[in-house]
Parts: sequence; structure tokens; C-alpha cells
Amino acid sequence: MTDRWTEGDTAILHRPDSDPILVRLVTGPQAVGSEGVIDLSGEIGQPVGRSVVWSGVTCRLFRPSLSDLLSGIHRGAQIVIAKDAVHLLYLGGVGPGGQVAEAGSGSGALTIALAFAVGATGHVTSFDRRTDFLANARANVERAGLLDRVTFRERDVVADGIDLADLSSVVLDLPEPWAVLASARFALRPGGFVATYTPTYNQLERTVRALRELRFDEVRAFEVLERGLHVGEGGTRPEFEMLGHTGFLAAGRKVDDR
Ligand SMILES: C[S@@+](CC[C@H](N)C(=O)[O-])C[C@H]1O[C@@H](n2cnc3c(N)ncnc32)[C@H](O)[C@@H]1O
Repeated sequence: MTDRWTEGDTAILHRPDSDPILVRLVTGPQAVGSEGVIDLSGEIGQPVGRSVVWSGVTCRLFRPSLSDLLSGIHRGAQIVIAKDAVHLLYLGGVGPGGQVAEAGSGSGALTIALAFAVGATGHVTSFDRRTDFLANARANVERAGLLDRVTFRERDVVADGIDLADLSSVVLDLPEPWAVLASARFALRPGGFVATYTPTYNQLERTVRALRELRFDEVRAFEVLERGLHVGEGGTRPEFEMLGHTGFLAAGRKVDDR
């Protein structure tokens, strides 16, 4: 079946010599960042991937990838970058139809990855104790066109816990994840995963100790190092520079209700 645009869809406008831009399939002209105005009314109902001419340049209109959605995020709190976000999806067992809780929302970068992964049939509840961060995260998720998959809630999850049930995953990026693990375990369904992201070894140790004490199964911890490669015929080698440290990941699975 041909994939066609529906009014309200988010799209990526792919330009030949410039960065792609996120746009919305709406009726009438819309501002595109600071770069001008585009009218995509005629594309609604048309197949995805057609050429559109904008400011005399032939561009293509595609469905956005996760990488498209994560670029251009307005940063408030420090974000989880792509290499860690995608491994949190893997470790946290996050997939289509998932019922996921996340804390804290921060800038909403990880929220976007989670919402992308759960698809139209899943849902993400994202908690943060700061109103300003919640507002910024919401704006970033709305820009990505994923707001209908996310509920933002102001709540201190260390003090008040996660007041949800039957979750498939809980994903934590806040300073004291170990203090949320008992309530995360309670909120998870059997077979569900908790995954955490912490920048320091001592946070990781406390988190893994709590995972073991709370009888999570399949406890794992690792970090992801990403090294770019310079590819040239006969001269392929690693890039000279790489990001040395972001954070450590840990995860465990709830097996039963003991
Ligand atoms: C590093 S940021 C999260 C960044 C986010 N993962 C992203 O990719 O944009 C940590 C967030 O945790 C929130 N936070 C810290 N302690 C919290 C708590 N006890 N309850 C809820 N949120 C908390 C902070 O307000 C902050 O927004």
C-alpha cells in the first residue's frame, strides 16, 4: 500500500546542499525556522517521497528518521545522546506498543527516542520535578510530532515514586536512580525492564547494588563508546577525535511479583 501524507504529519524536507528541516503537513503557508515560508497544502494525500520546489531548489519530502527528530533539539537540561539513547531502548526492552515511564524528562531527547520506539500503539509517561524542563521537553516532543504518544507529569519520583502499573519499561536519567527502583519494580509488569543512565561510577555502583537487592534479574551494566571512521580509498582509519565519556547504562528485568 502506498504511504501517503495525512494532514498534521511531521516530515523532513531534504535539501540537496543543506541540513534537512522538520516541517508539518498543514494547510496553508508555514514558517520554516528562520529560513522562510513553505506551503505544503498540495502534498496532503500525496505519496511520501515526492519532490517539492522551495525557493527555487528541488527538495524531497520524507518521513523523519529518529536521527532527524533528535537533531535540532532545544537544550535545557543535559541530553542523552543518540548512542546512549538507542542502547537504553535495547536494554530497556522498549518496542512497539510499549507502556513506558521515564524520569526525568530533561530536554525530552530520550523521550523522543522512547516515543519513536513505542510507535502509535504505545505510550510514554515522562516525569520531571521541574516545570521549566517539562515545558521545554514538551516543546521538543511537539516539534518532533510525537506529543500524542507522551504524557508529561510534574512529579518528584524520588519522593513520591512512580504511581503507574503494568508498565513494560521504566527508563531513568536522574541523579539518584537507585532511590526510584523499588517503585519502578512495583510499577512494572513481570517481564518488564528498568534501564538507567548515570554519568559516574559511584552512581552506577549504587544503582546495580539496588537492582540486585531488589531481585531484578538479568542485571547488566555497560558503556557505549562510539568511534567515527574516516573512510578514504586506501586510507581508511579511525577519526582522531572521539567523545571520551557520556554515561553508564544499567538494566534489570522484573521476573515475578515476589
Ligand atoms: C539530565 S536530565 C534528563 C535529560 C533527558 N534524559 C534528555 O535526554 O533530555 C535529568 C532530569 O531529571 C530531573 N530530576 C532530577 N531529580 C528528579 C526527581 N527526583 N524526580 C523527577 N525528576 C527529577 C531534573 O529536573 C532533570 O530535568
